[in-house]
Amino acid sequence: MNFLTEEKALLDPYSKEPLEMGKGFYFNPVSGDKYYINSGIPVFLPENQMTGDNLKYARFYDKISRFYRISSVLYCWLKGTSEKKVKKLYLDLLEIKENDLVLEVSIGSADNLKHLPKRAFYSGIDISFGMLTMARLQLRHWRIKAGLYQGEAEHLPFADNSFDVVFHVGGINFFNDKQKALAEMIRVAKPGSKLLVVDETESMVVNTYQKNPFSRKLYQLADRDLSVPVHLLPIGMKEIEVRYFYEQKIYCLTFRKPLAAIAEQLNGVAG
Ligand SMILES: C[S@@+](CC[C@H](N)C(=O)[O-])C[C@H]1O[C@@H](n2cnc3c(N)ncnc32)[C@H](O)[C@@H]1O
Repeated sequence: MNFLTEEKALLDPYSKEPLEMGKGFYFNPVSGDKYYINSGIPVFLPENQMTGDNLKYARFYDKISRFYRISSVLYCWLKGTSEKKVKKLYLDLLEIKENDLVLEVSIGSADNLKHLPKRAFYSGIDISFGMLTMARLQLRHWRIKAGLYQGEAEHLPFADNSFDVVFHVGGINFFNDKQKALAEMIRVAKPGSKLLVVDETESMVVNTYQKNPFSRKLYQLADRDLSVPVHLLPIGMKEIEVRYFYEQKIYCLTFRKPLAAIAEQLNGVAG
């Protein structure tokens, strides 16, 4: 299901040339590259093209996809709270209006969509096909319609200024290229829209994930910058705010893409 108004709104994620629809695939008429649709999900990133941490985490999330939701629900319950309460802390900051086009980058198993307004059009992209398969099942169960795509946050297959709302929760700390992913989220967001980025704080990663025997190996990334990525935003972003939630375990960065005239001039990085 493609909620973008016109097929030409899908772009080749690498060259940014408009894609056309074939039988069971999208194709780039300039390069001839094809992107196949697997079980309703256009695949913009086959595993053999993934590298670095993106490949590592795609494999990890593929493996745990069937247990991801139940483990986060259980974790919240053990901590004396609920998934809904934790998610609402940051999801309530989104500005979703009726009929808005909303993109979640790294949608995972689509758990956030359960807590968002029903009268909007959702799209989600993720590198893990396992997580997207779970998203498809859960969305059907919850009767929520959404377009799902497999691809990297660093190479979004959407046209500039496509979405009224763009948000990300829970993966950016370990993306191959955080700055590029932020630039892509901003590119596809409409001018004037508010963006939201949530992830675990450095202290949560260092004091919990890197110490826990089950997650230690996955999170041993000595040279990783785990700070809130304000310094990676392009110059010109407005209303930049950082909040901390849930005993400082998660940060929430919100900012607004400037209106068109300024957006066109963006090319540097904020200090
Ligand atoms: C902790 S889960 C969060 C899922 C969902 N956003 C949520 O809040 O429940 C992190 C997700 O990020 C995805 N991910 C990791 N690196 C990515 C990348 N470079 N591009 C897109 N998705 C990525 C993983 O596959 C995984 O589904």
